[in-house]
Amino acid sequence: MAAGRVAVLGGPNLGRLGLREPELYGEVTWEELEARCRAWASELDLKLVFDQTDSEGELVRMIHAAGADCDGLILNAAAYTHTSVAVRDALLTLEIPVLELHLTNPSAREPFRRRNLLQDVVTGGVFGLGTEGYRLALEGMAGLLRGN
Ligand code: DQA
Repeated sequence: MAAGRVAVLGGPNLGRLGLREPELYGEVTWEELEARCRAWASELDLKLVFDQTDSEGELVRMIHAAGADCDGLILNAAAYTHTSVAVRDALLTLEIPVLELHLTNPSAREPFRRRNLLQDVVTGGVFGLGTEGYRLALEGMAGLLRGN
């Protein structure tokens, strides 16, 4: 039996990864990132749900679904991190661990990115490590699910 089922969800514009500001976010596409996450998850014996949306309501729906179907959530809410009370409220409904992920370090960028509506309602997070952060988040989640 798998060690757990983990959702990796992405918010707006992450589907444009690889094309979008590559000097900031790198050249790996969202599809390539999915393939990497699937390989890392399988090494960790995790089942993976991997999805992305540009819409706030859809992201809220995906978070609810993760709460119902998964043992953990890794969330890069992208710009909604800084603006969305709805995403924050959706996280507050969950009873599973949530790791917040950012490819960049938002606090080292424009001042408006220092406002974070999610960080005090998540279990932990990874930021500033590019796509490698997803490997670390999956490892961290596997540890949390094992009870480490
Ligand atoms: C991001 C950082 C956010 O500020 C930004 O709006 C994004 C991506 C990141 O992964 O570094 O879209 O979440």
